[in-house]
Amino acid sequence: MVDYTALSHRIAALCEHETNDIALMATIACEVHHSDDRFDWTGFYRVTEPQVLKIGPYQGGHGCLVIPFSRGVCGAAARSQEIQIIADVEAFEDHIACSSSTRSELVIPVTNGQGALIAVFDIDSDQPNAFDAQDASALSSILQRSLNGCRLGLWAPVIFGSAHLPHPTRSKKTPTQSRGSSSSGEMNY
Ligand code: SME
Repeated sequence: MVDYTALSHRIAALCEHETNDIALMATIACEVHHSDDRFDWTGFYRVTEPQVLKIGPYQGGHGCLVIPFSRGVCGAAARSQEIQIIADVEAFEDHIACSSSTRSELVIPVTNGQGALIAVFDIDSDQPNAFDAQDASALSSILQRSLNGCRLGLWAPVIFGSAHLPHPTRSKKTPTQSRGSSSSGEMNY
């Protein structure tokens, strides 16, 4: 079983003062993945445009690149914004099998400080019924604490209005300059 207190402290220490969403996600995926042999694929699918998830930082074999909210366990988590604990992926009708060895799965919706869905966090296991409520709760807390400051992508203001514009103190550059970088809290997309 994972020592979630130690994992949480380790991630907090590694991510201290970091504001780049991708760097934060890459660190979280790495530390969670290597914390337990149950975890065979660990990573993020980010909301890159309305109703679309695209692969983000992950550990493990290749994962499918694009998942619409209408598909898979990840799409179910994104649509419902509820944690999905799948004891047997074969029993989940629309499961997307990125690996034939996957037997069970945990997917956690990730929201930022404004309550906006920014990603889902997906863990696959080759063991049946590998995940429980303690895993879900502990990982959800780690994700919430670590990714609280993340912003929606550059498309958000277009779709949702100015409420999702970069916070003036976090982004000193115009959107065109912020492409690909969020080191000063600039937008990710
Ligand atoms: N199994 C997921 C797809 C992502 S791969 O597992 C990395 C799903 O059904 O949404």
